[in-house]
Amino acid sequence: MHSTIMAAPSQLPSHDDRPVDAENGDGSATPSQGAGVCGSGGGVGGIPVVDLAVLVDGSADHRSQAIRELGQACEDWGFFMVTNHGVPEALQEAVMDACKQLFSLPMEEKEEHIHAGPMDPVRIGSGFYSVMDAVAFKRDYLKMFTHPDFHCPAKPAILRDIAMEYSSCTRALLLHLAKAISQSLDLAGGRLSEALNLESCFQILVGNHYPGCSRPDDEAIGFLAHSDHGLLTLLFQNGVDGLQVKHDGRWVLAKPLPGSFFVIAGDQMEIVTNGRYRSALHRVVLGGEQARMSIVSLIGPCLDSVVEPLPEMAAPDGKGLEFRGMRYKEYLEKQQSKKLDEKTALDIVRVQHQQLSRG
Ligand code: OGA
Ligand code: NI
Repeated sequence: MHSTIMAAPSQLPSHDDRPVDAENGDGSATPSQGAGVCGSGGGVGGIPVVDLAVLVDGSADHRSQAIRELGQACEDWGFFMVTNHGVPEALQEAVMDACKQLFSLPMEEKEEHIHAGPMDPVRIGSGFYSVMDAVAFKRDYLKMFTHPDFHCPAKPAILRDIAMEYSSCTRALLLHLAKAISQSLDLAGGRLSEALNLESCFQILVGNHYPGCSRPDDEAIGFLAHSDHGLLTLLFQNGVDGLQVKHDGRWVLAKPLPGSFFVIAGDQMEIVTNGRYRSALHRVVLGGEQARMSIVSLIGPCLDSVVEPLPEMAAPDGKGLEFRGMRYKEYLEKQQSKKLDEKTALDIVRVQHQQLSRG
């Protein structure tokens, strides 16, 4: 069997805003063969799955098939699972555990990072940090910048080495995916990396902790619908579901295959591909009694890179470029000072074609 992208089966579409479960009746998700994409007529397909082993070691045929399917996953979903990724399970557990220890530290041990601003390299907080943010939602987080310079809170002491290793391991994985994604656009493998200076990519590690609800609500939002600001986000969770991705106008519950990571396309992917690979809208909905944790490893362009659509991605129909160029650092600062609201951050750089004719 050599289908590199498989679809996780899903249940029938729902008729309201509730998510569609991408799982079997027993709560597990298993791979099955078949197209990962459904028509627009209301059928819901599974979240695409990419087998990294094929991208790395596959025969030429299998590799090019895998790259085509990866491109399809980026185009249709901006969200997929990656299996056989080579990140040791023990390292994943260690990083999850160290983050858990951090969240249970007494307040005074975290104090200095709690008052940090969005561009400070280590930040601990609750909700989405924004001066304009009026909504308090249930989420504690640790954010640390890990590349090109590595930053880490001093406590818990075990965090440093583990986070450093996890960061470099997942960076290698994400850079590999970026290369294959570049090829899926019929570009040289190094094209995206060159354009965004990914050798000096900006990387963030985030630990998210969503406390369990003692009186489970129907729909407690843990993280409002948003897209990520970077290029690619890698995520795994502690076995408690809640992440949902919007696909074809519906929220789909993201149910991981055992041992897989979720990969989420971010805003810089949408900009650099001129809208061909759009960033995925996702959110976290909670309701259970169990606490949920997730570990995010995100890469973006080099902070000094001016990100703009690749000229090769300009639409041949003359529609031209959807986004203007902006330094990633500036985008990040602007995005962080805005209220978190779906994908409106992209309006910062969106070219308003109609305005030209209004004069
Ligand atoms: C994020 C995010 C989802 C989750 O940190 O940007 O979308 O499952 N997290 O915690
Ligand atoms: Ni996110």
